[in-house]
Amino acid sequence: VNKGNGVKGLSETGIKALPDQYIQPFEERLINKFVNETDEAIPVIDMSDPNGNKVAEAICDAAEKWGFFQVINHGVPLDVLDNVKAATHRFFNLPVEEKSRFTKENSLTTNVRFGTSFSPRAEKALEWKDYLSLFFVSEAEAEQFWPDVCKNEALEYMNKSKTMVRKLLEYLGKNLNVKELDETKESLFMGSIRVNLNYYPICPNPDLTVGVGRHSDVSSLTILLQDQIGGLHVRSLSSGNWVHVPPVPGSFVINIGDAMQILSNGRYKSVEHRVLANGSNNRISVPIFVNPKPESVIGPLPEVIANGEEPIYKDVVYSDYVRYFFKKAHDGKKTVDFAK
Ligand code: SIN
Ligand code: FE2
Repeated sequence: VNKGNGVKGLSETGIKALPDQYIQPFEERLINKFVNETDEAIPVIDMSDPNGNKVAEAICDAAEKWGFFQVINHGVPLDVLDNVKAATHRFFNLPVEEKSRFTKENSLTTNVRFGTSFSPRAEKALEWKDYLSLFFVSEAEAEQFWPDVCKNEALEYMNKSKTMVRKLLEYLGKNLNVKELDETKESLFMGSIRVNLNYYPICPNPDLTVGVGRHSDVSSLTILLQDQIGGLHVRSLSSGNWVHVPPVPGSFVINIGDAMQILSNGRYKSVEHRVLANGSNNRISVPIFVNPKPESVIGPLPEVIANGEEPIYKDVVYSDYVRYFFKKAHDGKKTVDFAK
């Protein structure tokens, strides 16, 4: 019925009850499992600290203990963030006919995909979310194929974030004995990039479904811009509790992905997270997935196992790893076993 207009189209028909396909199994719903934000909170790290060592230490520590942290004073201009958020609203507010040009059936390239839910065929229940996924190949390709209402803003956002991404990778790398981000390391850590625009419409029965089911990311690093609504929850490694990631104006949420967990031989943790559906507000988020090059072979870095440490993952071709991930539903952190 709403083909081409996603969950947003469904939400805007004013339906009063959640359609059955979206009702999640009881154990996947986010009920009564949250902790008080004062008890446990993911670190917020000020990257402008003049003493760079302290910043690096805080980042590596968070990557080991939480797999998640937020950064402020990261150097990415705030108007770039505002612009890509506005562009996200512009895209999802387009008429159905415009958005449907980018569905799997209609898109002129596999690098641009407007979709709804995650992996509808694999999922027991659908997710209350629409997205536009933009895989970056080149400026020229983006210029030609990315939607006009958001391409400049998405490109600017991606490009202006790169200095911060390099800095984060340098800090994380140093702590693994990686001396510098040379060409080989760049293609392993940040050889390919995907920008997603996510839209979570108002949901009639938010307690029965999820925005995104629990999963870990397959990236090396994910940097996420969220708006003021909230709803992202992270599984605490120390307590197992679901901890909310409160929106902090001007910040990025950073998380370690599976590829980095594998490269670091398990030192940095790729952690389960999920997103609540919301009964009264539309929410957007704009993640940048920083990934290995698809053809890269990923496994524990030589620098990490040089000290005699036993590699706990086997080498895998990154594109195989990702293909495996997309075959599965969002019901836990499972893909990493693929490299065991
Ligand atoms: C995701 O992890 O898939 C989305 C995160 C978010 O929208 O906050
Ligand atoms: Fe994620």
